[in-house]
Amino acid sequence: MRKNFGAKPWTYPQPVFIIATYDEDGIPDAMNAAWGGISDDTQIAMCLSAGHKTVKNILARGAFTVSMADAAHVTACDYVGIVSANDVPEKLEKAGFNTTQSEFVDAPLIDELPMALECRLVSYDEESCRLIGEIVNVSAEESILSDGKIDPAKLEPIIFDPVNNAYLKLGEKVGHAFKDGMALK
Ligand SMILES: Cc1cc2nc3c(=O)[nH]c(=O)nc-3n(C[C@H](O)[C@H](O)[C@H](O)COP(=O)(O)O)c2cc1C
Repeated sequence: MRKNFGAKPWTYPQPVFIIATYDEDGIPDAMNAAWGGISDDTQIAMCLSAGHKTVKNILARGAFTVSMADAAHVTACDYVGIVSANDVPEKLEKAGFNTTQSEFVDAPLIDELPMALECRLVSYDEESCRLIGEIVNVSAEESILSDGKIDPAKLEPIIFDPVNNAYLKLGEKVGHAFKDGMALK
């Protein structure tokens, strides 16, 4: 027997993206976003509410970065998802996050989060909340690389569990993509 839960925004896994921006005066902000994902080779799509300071900043500066939340910074990553820079302008400072300007786009990188996408705004529709960004660069700290590649075991990204309102660490490797299915071809 299956149980029906009705229409819910539930999938596994959901990302924990930390979107960082500058406002018109160059003050950095960041927010937590679970509703998003890759939508083309060099595009990311997200559902961001128009009232967020982040959205105002993206529309003003045309750029943002998307860092992967990690297990080492759960509290700070949750904090930026429950407090708005509309109310607490020094939000990033309170979170304990420091920033450095991206070399590629007009947006900050969060120093404490070691992997990020650096993006330019393509479009935003206020009614549907849909935001599309062009991925201009992906950067990662050397400390999370193995053999020159991003190593999820070192990055320890977290995912959002929308059913239980929890953050989970990524689990172990269980297969090889584009390969294991060949056994049934
Ligand atoms: C786990 C989690 C996931 C969230 N996902 C989204 C999302 O996908 N879209 C959105 O608009 N807000 C989302 N939020 C809410 C924003 O992060 C929150 O409203 C934040 O305070 C906005 O900050 P800002 O006004 O400084 O930009 C999420 C919050 C949490 C805690």
